[in-house]
Amino acid sequence: MNDVRPRRSALYVPGANARALEKIPGLDADVVIVDLEDAVAPAAKEEARAAAVAAIRRGLGRAEIVLRVNGGGTPWAEADLAAAASSGAAAVLLPKVDGPEVLRDAERRLAAAGAPGSMALWAMIETPRGVLRAAEVALASPRLACLVAGTSDLVKDLRARHTPGRTEVLVALSTIVLAARASGLAALDGVHLDLADDAGLAAACRQGRDLGFDGKTLIHPWTIAAANLAFTPGDDELGLARRIIQAHAEAEAAGRGVVVVDGRLVESLHVAEAHRVVALAAAIAARRG
Ligand code: COA
Ligand code: MG
Repeated sequence: MNDVRPRRSALYVPGANARALEKIPGLDADVVIVDLEDAVAPAAKEEARAAAVAAIRRGLGRAEIVLRVNGGGTPWAEADLAAAASSGAAAVLLPKVDGPEVLRDAERRLAAAGAPGSMALWAMIETPRGVLRAAEVALASPRLACLVAGTSDLVKDLRARHTPGRTEVLVALSTIVLAARASGLAALDGVHLDLADDAGLAAACRQGRDLGFDGKTLIHPWTIAAANLAFTPGDDELGLARRIIQAHAEAEAAGRGVVVVDGRLVESLHVAEAHRVVALAAAIAARRG
């Protein structure tokens, strides 16, 4: 189920960095995004593509493997998509998606290159136009499974500044979550650029979780644990979810429609959310298992 697959941590790994690629199987990230775009210099694009695809084909452990290709309109886009089609990656992440046509074009190219029907498309929303058209983007392709916020590009394009509370991107982040949820997609938050700022990273992870994201994109292995912690349902949350499910079942059996748990009214909508929390916790436990 797309809904309960753990995607708490999504680590970018530069496709041109052999040492970083080698480390992937030993990391505890739920998702690994092997990058051919911004993390790879123009002179290294072909080499990175070959190395990334070879590494994915060999197998990179149990993370969900996503290949970020170069955008349409760059000299590498076509060959990247053709290589991605047979790479065995679970998904292809398209950068700077600013309208539904970008997805439709990628979808056509992937199909023409023989991509399996199970290969998903993920879309980065990281331009002002992309944010404004996020709802249309979210509906553009049956392969689309996840929207990924690209806050670094967005802050640049907005001529905004990175602030600790991320006021400058809050509207965009919520727009991305709205678009994703309206279409049943997953949503991942942008990266935290300051690698020396543990408290700021933890706060940003919690903020993303509270906004509704499923997880956070990351640039360094040392930040995986913070994201996994923030996006794992806590013991309190899980306990409450279990009590809600039980109390509601008992009330229903007794012919009552509503019930109070911990002093709060519980309705069917809370029960549905409680089931999601329990299922997510079980999926995380199974992953650890
Ligand atoms: N994935 C996998 N391994 C990584 C990694 C990553 N993203 N970032 C660092 N590592 C590895 C390093 O190879 C190093 O391994 P080693 O000790 O075996 O040599 C170890 O983790 C410690 O790395 P460190 O020395 O602290 O960092 P660095 O200076 O090598 O790299 C960055 C710092 C920021 C350049 C690097 O983390 C990076 O390239 N991140 C991804 C950037 C990216 O993809 N950007 C595009 C999307 S925003
Ligand atoms: Mg970007």
